Amino acid sequence: VSLVLDRITADDVPEMASAFAPFGWAGKDAAQFTSYVEAQDAGERVVLIARLDSAFVGYGCVVWRSGYHPYERDGIPEIQDLNVLPQFRRRGIATALLDALEDLIASRSRVAGVGVGVYADYGAAMRLYVARGYQFDGRGLMYDGQPVVPGSMVRIDDGATLMLTKPVAATEGGPQGLTVIS
Ligand SMILES: CC(C)(COP(=O)(O)OP(=O)(O)OC[C@H]1O[C@@H](n2cnc3c(N)ncnc32)[C@H](O)[C@@H]1OP(=O)(O)O)[C@@H](O)C(=O)NCCC(=O)NCCS
Repeated sequence: VSLVLDRITADDVPEMASAFAPFGWAGKDAAQFTSYVEAQDAGERVVLIARLDSAFVGYGCVVWRSGYHPYERDGIPEIQDLNVLPQFRRRGIATALLDALEDLIASRSRVAGVGVGVYADYGAAMRLYVARGYQFDGRGLMYDGQPVVPGSMVRIDDGATLMLTKPVAATEGGPQGLTVIS
């Protein structure tokens, strides 16, 4: 078995879109992935995709300038939209993606940021980030990046997040464009 991580290209888009199509998840379609290729070309985002024995199995992104004000202000790049296809979970694929994404971040920052949803679909991600040493940023629940004021009503959907950070250090040799794990 070999797991290969590399940056997205336009050629990956059709395979990624068809891999997610059976689930019908919002934002996991060709339009979204094409916009990621464009954002990567513009230097705003890096999208690493994972291939297991050459088949697409997951991806994750770094956004250099976070839309979350405290991270933007402090220059903390944000990991976004980490996804592993359900049939390939619990095999260390997200771990490999995060190792590589954190390495990329370490080339520009001493801290990595991430936001996680607060309902059960994000349960695996919550446990994964805590297990990797991420800590809550201490600012409490956000909705679309804005603090949720006590006593207010918010809808619990993907807009509701808790934000976390982790110190990252560059590994020897710096970030690799291509990672192969056999
Ligand atoms: C979160 C997600 C990316 C994890 O992908 P994965 O490839 O299965 O993760 P890994 O195999 O690298 O898991 C690493 C560790 O995370 C934790 N973890 C992962 N899934 C877990 C689960 N379902 N329950 C409890 N812990 C879990 C475990 O500590 C695990 O280590 P272990 O398998 O040795 O116990 C995947 O579940 C997913 O795509 N979820 C839906 C999308 C999502 O929530 N993305 C995050 C957005 S912020």
